[in-house]
Amino acid sequence: MLHEDKIINPLMNDKKVKGYLKKIKDFDKNTYEHCVRLSILSMYLAYKNSFSQEEIKMLGYAGLLHDIGKLDIPIQILHRKRKLTDEEKKIVQEHPRLSFLRLNDPEFQEIRKIIVAHHEFQTKSYPRTNSDRRKEQRLNIERRKKDNKIRKLAEILSICDMYDALASKRCYKKPLNKEEIEERIRKQFTGQKKYIRQILNVPKDLSRC
Ligand SMILES: [Fe+2]
Ligand SMILES: [Fe+2]
Repeated sequence: MLHEDKIINPLMNDKKVKGYLKKIKDFDKNTYEHCVRLSILSMYLAYKNSFSQEEIKMLGYAGLLHDIGKLDIPIQILHRKRKLTDEEKKIVQEHPRLSFLRLNDPEFQEIRKIIVAHHEFQTKSYPRTNSDRRKEQRLNIERRKKDNKIRKLAEILSICDMYDALASKRCYKKPLNKEEIEERIRKQFTGQKKYIRQILNVPKDLSRC
């Protein structure tokens, strides 16, 4: 069994991560709590799928820091109670790239590549669209080989992020119930289908459902 406190505490106590987390918490407590849950959920799913210790740890960091780019988005937009306009949506959708830009420390070079792709396993994928990604893969076979690990980790981060967002209360919506979550994930998640069943069956204390 994965003992989440034992695993996440050392990651959260890393000096640099601690500094980033403080910034996220001061900016928006809900985003902070979402990041901590995502870190635990992603490590759990990676563990379930027999990922290496190193990969599990990378996902732990990626979960904690994935939405740090939201710090560069006006808080009024993030807290809007109504549906966002197309212009506002475009601004919010900048956050994976903004996270990538913020995490320019030498130790986060791999982690930030996972993070920038955390919304790329969904039907309306961003910042790269699904066809951008397919084109890149065709054009550069060498890079694709190198990117396989990043892709595999981003896929886990992505389904856990989707799950937690649907299961949580946000300013503009109530948390969805398990059936509604399943329906939405089945429609929107474009990664491996086996992860859908797994995320829907995470233990109660991790799932919020
Ligand atoms: Fe995000
Ligand atoms: Fe997120």
